[in-house]
Amino acid sequence: MSAAQHAATSMADGDQDSSRPWSVEVRRTPAGAPDVTAAERLAADLRVGLAQDPPSIPPKWFYDDKGSLLFDEITRLEEYYPTRTEEAILRSSADEIAALSEAATLVELGAGYSRKTRLLLEALTSGGRELLYVPLDVAEEPLRDTAVRVVAAHPTVEVRALVADFEDDLRPLPGEGAPRLVAFLGSTIGNLLPDDRAAFLSRLCNAMDPGDALLLGADLVKDPGRLVAAYDDARGVTAAFNKNVVDVLARELGADLDPDDFDHVAVWNADAERIEMRLRARRDLTVRIDALDLDWSLPAGSEVLTETSHKFRVEGVQAELRAAGLTPVRTWTDEADDFSLTLARREA
Ligand code: SAH
Ligand code: AVI
Repeated sequence: MSAAQHAATSMADGDQDSSRPWSVEVRRTPAGAPDVTAAERLAADLRVGLAQDPPSIPPKWFYDDKGSLLFDEITRLEEYYPTRTEEAILRSSADEIAALSEAATLVELGAGYSRKTRLLLEALTSGGRELLYVPLDVAEEPLRDTAVRVVAAHPTVEVRALVADFEDDLRPLPGEGAPRLVAFLGSTIGNLLPDDRAAFLSRLCNAMDPGDALLLGADLVKDPGRLVAAYDDARGVTAAFNKNVVDVLARELGADLDPDDFDHVAVWNADAERIEMRLRARRDLTVRIDALDLDWSLPAGSEVLTETSHKFRVEGVQAELRAAGLTPVRTWTDEADDFSLTLARREA
């Protein structure tokens, strides 16, 4: 089956009772690429990741249904300041962002449950304006939840959700012919390594039309104690989120792995200015992974890198945007300079 056919057969009709339509389109492989299963994609990612030093697993594999809900719980933790801080910045800047972008389409990358997005949706539809909202995520369940909630709460919004990988070529972006605002919130950009980040921003800029704008959320460098606490909370929700990737591996690859064989580790890497989440083997493990024809050996105490969460400086964010071809228009921060939102435009 071609990618296009796959997308078409996976398209769900929207709720007929809603005042506006919604749909969820599954594009698990980029246009033109052969269709592959989740297990095959995970196996390909692991083939690369486990050969690295330290071995690593790309963080997008956290987000099955359970992982998406665990992240949602993380956003409400006392220790996890980024979500509420970004939300507060959005609350005071959304009208200005709407006025500067003049967007008729809002594309949101890594949207998850799109909770903060409510503020942008309200600002972009003020006065009864119509808006196309395109939440995009690898996780399907949060998108379905979002689609139903958004059309119910915002009568002039049409939702066209996309299950896709934001690191794939995003062309063509929906909403051609009128200005788009592409939102990438939550500092999810920080989960990409610097080279991958530069490549991602260039690809995104190429997918945008002149006049389109990007709204980028970026968490800022701060006291390491606060950072580590945000990634190692007292209730152990982040530990459960981290260990959930072990269940994903076991399920998708039929690997004999148990989350209880691992400890959650969160450390501040001062040189790279990033939090690293790791899983540390509690005993000697040998794991058979048939899909990779691999007997994966993990001695007690060895670690697998499951996420890097880079922290930024405002000038650095602006320089990375410029390097990708995007012109920073304005940056907003909270009073404590904990988090930043930058609006950047693709010029002609
Ligand atoms: N934007 C929300 C959610 C952030 S959590 C917020 O600010 O709170 C990160 C989200 O990005 C998750 O929903 C995850 O499924 C999604 N994600 C991670 N890697 C992705 C990728 N490569 N492509 C698409 N979505 C991805
Ligand atoms: C989605 N991303 C920006 C989160 C972060 O802070 O790096 C994921 C997360 N990992 C642990 N807690 C939250």
